[in-house]
Amino acid sequence: AAPTMAGQDLAGRRVVISAGGTREALDPVRYLGNSSSGRMGAALAADAAARGARVTMVTAHIEVPVPSCVRQVPVSSTEDLDEAMRREATGADIVVMAVAAADFAPSSVSDLKIKKHEGDRRVGDRMSLDLIQTPDVLAGLAAARTPGQVVVGFAAETAPDRDELLALARAKLARKGCDLLAVNDVSSGRVFGKVGTDVTVVRQQGPGRRVMGSKMMAAQAILDEARSLLAP
Ligand code: CTP
Ligand code: CA
Repeated sequence: AAPTMAGQDLAGRRVVISAGGTREALDPVRYLGNSSSGRMGAALAADAAARGARVTMVTAHIEVPVPSCVRQVPVSSTEDLDEAMRREATGADIVVMAVAAADFAPSSVSDLKIKKHEGDRRVGDRMSLDLIQTPDVLAGLAAARTPGQVVVGFAAETAPDRDELLALARAKLARKGCDLLAVNDVSSGRVFGKVGTDVTVVRQQGPGRRVMGSKMMAAQAILDEARSLLAP
């Protein structure tokens, strides 16, 4: 085996990180999307690579560059994401779902551009969309994980206080069945697209670990926690 350098605690490991925000098509030019930039996922990928891991980023419309030495698999919709993550997670040691995946997608995609007028006739002042739930990618990955694989989810929550935030995080961790959940308090709308962050990492047992600072600091803490759960 190649000698490992100091701090290369993920040498020989494979890490898969999803990042960005999915888009669900309505017609050939329109979609339902969200404003997740992919910064958190890119910070995780950069740190994992610096620690010696082989890293794949599954990217949905990210607005930041993919760090060097990181393999990129681009996707668009939550269904694409589900397929790519199932494939890429095979044989991975750590899988992180930092992507903002749509919960609902249009039940059908129009082949033609949706029009406000039909010939000379206006269609009306209102229109409604029929939406259907997307697959829960994280829950699927957690259910399918192999022994020793660590699956990490993210959650952005609004809660009146910290106890409520932690209660929501623990309930979501249990519902998803993943090993770790990194929860952001977005009550004041200060996290999406911003550089700084306030993240608490909860695991199935034990207290949560809170990190306030840069996304790189949060990324390091999340990977420290994931690393501690890996089989030797
Ligand atoms: N997630 C996923 N597939 C989805 C929706 C979300 O894999 N269709 C993942 C996200 O990438 C994140 C985690 O699930 O890692 C939590 O997302 P969140 O939106 O907080 O959870 P939901 O189960 O969608 O619950 P809700 O939106 O009702 O809070
Ligand atoms: Ca959701």
